[in-house]
Amino acid sequence: MRTTEASAPGKIILFGEHAVVYGRPAIAAPVTQVRATAVVEDNPETGVILRAPDLGRDYELQTADENDPFARAVHLVIAAAGTFRMPDLIITVRSTIPIAGGLGSGAAMAAAVIRALSQYFSMEFLATDEWVSDMTYQVEQLLHGTPSGIDNTVVSYEQPVYFRKQQPVNIIETFTPARPLHLIIADTGLASSTKEVVGDVRRRWQADSARFEQLFDHCGRIAEAARQAIEAGEIETVGELMAENHTYLQEMSVSSPELDKLVAAAKAAGALGAKLSGAGRGGNIIALVTEDSKTAVRQALLAAGARQILGSNLT
Ligand code: MEV
Repeated sequence: MRTTEASAPGKIILFGEHAVVYGRPAIAAPVTQVRATAVVEDNPETGVILRAPDLGRDYELQTADENDPFARAVHLVIAAAGTFRMPDLIITVRSTIPIAGGLGSGAAMAAAVIRALSQYFSMEFLATDEWVSDMTYQVEQLLHGTPSGIDNTVVSYEQPVYFRKQQPVNIIETFTPARPLHLIIADTGLASSTKEVVGDVRRRWQADSARFEQLFDHCGRIAEAARQAIEAGEIETVGELMAENHTYLQEMSVSSPELDKLVAAAKAAGALGAKLSGAGRGGNIIALVTEDSKTAVRQALLAAGARQILGSNLT
């Protein structure tokens, strides 16, 4: 009986969401306390069973819809493995990453399944972080149409990344903060569909491309400056840039009263900066705190209606 297991973390976008879809640089980091985990084991019966108990799903690969992301992840690995006869398997994926919260649950589930199945086929030589990321990107395309590639990258590499979408290959640079960044991640509890929000931004960009190009340029400039500040340990500057990035996201119409309320509460309680993270309209905000301010910010966020709080240290 052969069993393999792999996992992938959640993620936050520190700077540059949405603009990154239009070729501007962005920065993302893994959130390792929440994870998706996939287990592949032999099936004593015939067929491939896909199980996602958190989503209440238990079905056969054969009967899966062609747009099913779980099935797509499995088919991609099987095609790469080039097996003549499909083995009988049970593939189970579980996740502690909130769904539709901007924390990359879909990408992490796909990356975990792709890695665990690659290990099952003893394809470790092929299943590098880069390969897992490329396969996960293909699943992401099903989930949200025109992904930039940053989510699959950060959950597969599991390191802070500076990312820029470009042809023929994306720029992907991992980097280390000169001083640790202490972040609090606070959930509005509102579900948000990345596909819908990204699609809506696209419609607005098509209707007013000059204005949106300018907004994207501002966000790209902020991401560049933020990377320098992070690498120089200039924490206060990082906080200011987060606040600035949030105002441009508001102008793109991807914030919401609930997100703005949490951002304002974090700032009032002493956070160095705060912004929405991910696609927006719902999901999470991130706040940059210090050892001194973190308890007050956490309490203020809960008082302002945050449903769940996570801490994340970028080192
Ligand atoms: C979602 O985590 C980040 C977005 O920029 C979409 C993408 O980059 O694919 C909103």
